[in-house]
Amino acid sequence: MMSENDAELVRLSGAALGFEAGEPLWKDLDLTVRPGEFVAVLGANGSGKTTLLRCLLGLQPLSAGTISVLGRSPQAARRDVGYVPQQRRFDPLTPVRARDLVGFGLDGHEWGPPIFNRRQRRERIDAALAEVGATRFADAPASRLSGGQQQLLRIAQALVCDPRLLLCDEPLLSLDLNHQREVSAVVDRRRRDHGTGVVFVTHEINPVLPYVDRVLYLAGQRFTIGPVDEVMTSETLTRLYSSPVDVLRVRDQLVVVGIPDRPVHDPEPAAQP
Ligand SMILES: Nc1ncnc2c1ncn2[C@@H]1O[C@H](COP(=O)(O)OP(=O)(O)OP(=O)(O)O)[C@@H](O)[C@H]1O
Ligand SMILES: [Mg+2]
Repeated sequence: MMSENDAELVRLSGAALGFEAGEPLWKDLDLTVRPGEFVAVLGANGSGKTTLLRCLLGLQPLSAGTISVLGRSPQAARRDVGYVPQQRRFDPLTPVRARDLVGFGLDGHEWGPPIFNRRQRRERIDAALAEVGATRFADAPASRLSGGQQQLLRIAQALVCDPRLLLCDEPLLSLDLNHQREVSAVVDRRRRDHGTGVVFVTHEINPVLPYVDRVLYLAGQRFTIGPVDEVMTSETLTRLYSSPVDVLRVRDQLVVVGIPDRPVHDPEPAAQP
């Protein structure tokens, strides 16, 4: 039987996050993510995108408000959540094959006996490799693969546990346009075929523009959330930043001009004597 909570993979209510010193990164945040929904998270460096994902993973408590993931606490939901952390390249000295790397995604849920026997494990890894189009380099040393290929493996690693919610932290960084499209399309296919909810942190909206249902845009303690057509407009971003921002459509791409270095409405607090 479907409970009410099954309809929501994520529910944040009145959520705020701050560290001891200073203003919160964001506050009064209400966010829901439903099965199959693709939510992009945009915002400048330091606006709290990674920290938001860490809250959803149960690694970072909120300073106010409530959070539930799959109707549970984030910690209790962890084994059903796939995570692609903000990227680093693989250490060239680590002798891991591509398929071993994907297999690590099955080892993250360490308590209790292994869930899968060797054959099941292999089948799952093969399926995840195939899903991202990495079968042809499955046995290659991961550190020799290109940045784009490594990124596909990291997505496979997050998908191999068959998550109901997928959190991706800038998976497009340093990829060329073709690889950006490839990675975005893999994630889109997963949420369409499996109803996986997606929270996708990105600096580049264009590669995911065809897929995004809603955008959460963070800017200096403020945020706005809504469909792309509502959020990615000159009016909305100008209001968000309290400073003139222009959003232009060039063919099927969005070009954003005038984002200030620091949001204007966010003056530094006076130094304490
Ligand atoms: N545990 C912590 N204690 C204190 N400050 C923290 C902690 N974690 C993050 N911060 C601060 O919170 C701010 C937001 O960090 P976060 O990593 O979420 O930004 P981001 O939006 O992901 O930025 P980027 O685009 O650079 O990845 C930063 O100023 C960071 O230093
Ligand atoms: Mg980050």
